[in-house]
Amino acid sequence: MKFSIRTSGKVFDHHEIDNAIKVAKDGWWTEGEFTKRFIKDFSSYLGVRYVSLVNSGSSANLLALTALTSSVFGARSIRPGDEVITAACAFPTTVNPIIQNRCTPVFIDVDPGTRNPTAKAIEHAITGKTKAIMLAHTLGNPLALKSIMRIVARYHVWFIEDCCDALGSRYGGKLVSTFGHVATFSFYPAHQITMGEGGGVVTNNPFIHKAVRQFRDWGRDCWCDTGKDNTCNRRFDWQLGELPKGYDHKYIYSQIGYNLKLTDFQAAIGVAQLKKLPRFIKRRKENFDKLYSFFKQYDRYFILPTWEKEAEPCWFGFMVVVKGDAPFSRFEIVQYLENHSIGTRNLFAANLLHHPAYIGRKDIRVVGSMKNSDIIMNDGFWVGVYPGLTPQMIDFVIVTIANFIRIHRKP
Ligand SMILES: Cc1ncc(COP(=O)(O)O)c(C=O)c1O
Repeated sequence: MKFSIRTSGKVFDHHEIDNAIKVAKDGWWTEGEFTKRFIKDFSSYLGVRYVSLVNSGSSANLLALTALTSSVFGARSIRPGDEVITAACAFPTTVNPIIQNRCTPVFIDVDPGTRNPTAKAIEHAITGKTKAIMLAHTLGNPLALKSIMRIVARYHVWFIEDCCDALGSRYGGKLVSTFGHVATFSFYPAHQITMGEGGGVVTNNPFIHKAVRQFRDWGRDCWCDTGKDNTCNRRFDWQLGELPKGYDHKYIYSQIGYNLKLTDFQAAIGVAQLKKLPRFIKRRKENFDKLYSFFKQYDRYFILPTWEKEAEPCWFGFMVVVKGDAPFSRFEIVQYLENHSIGTRNLFAANLLHHPAYIGRKDIRVVGSMKNSDIIMNDGFWVGVYPGLTPQMIDFVIVTIANFIRIHRKP
């Protein structure tokens, strides 16, 4: 049988649609009951105290870093010119908030198997100017969290975990997002659950949470939920800045903020998706395992994914790198797969430093060679493992790749 195999996609049924229709009929379209429900369910799933929902994973990353610029953190607050360690092999909006806050991203290379930076590379890049480490768990593969948390404690730096691709991944039995000071998620359709567009910022720190909400909600000082007034019971009693005493707290601004909120339609879809998460995680793992068993026999041609021994990844995709001495190129195998209706993707930007937006910038620092990021850029690709792919579809991917290898294998 022939299939059309995508790398990712949303998997949903009537529950998501029914919830969205409820929101439409209620007429409460901004953050509302479904937002509250999602926050409750999501924080109890992760075991974190505070969740803020936003309109994308990129907005979540922007808020996570920007929150740490708040003066409430005193000497620890991130200021223009401070350094933030990040990976060159990344999604752009893991890195861009560093530049957008006028800080210096310090780029390090990744390991070719995990596609994550090693703890050694992170520690090597630390200077007196380092204020934070901001990294993604690449393609759902948990970072070396035990060693990273040791570095975070030793150098007293912030750790921002970009978990956009890693909802459901665990390290030492604990879910990712529960290690860093603040963590982020994306609910774009390619991710473990979707809201169409959407994202989340999670933290256990009440000051970070408050700052996230301020920057998300126009920079205002007030922390009332949408549609609520006077949560602080002092709405007309504050004296802040140079404003007259009693100026309405709803309109007092203590940060240079944004509006990055989402709608209750998105949260309503998210509530239904979250119920399916355990099933989605299981299917992603099964699909990955099946592909891994197949690819293992061809490890002379491909660098296969590796992971930390404490890690249980909930994979975003199945990534390989074509080895330099393989009898075929990345281009040839990708073309063959695409011609057989099997979608492929690169590892996002692979090496951001080669992209037009980053070339020639004076406000970045690069530590060491980016050899592995370049190898991934030139020779890596991934195929889907998302829960819409059935075992038969994965078999089709396997048979197609086996045929390709048979054609190209040296006699
Ligand atoms: C690691 C990582 N961070 C951030 C994002 C941005 O998420 P969004 O597309 O929701 O803005 C993505 C997007 O796929 C991602 O893969």
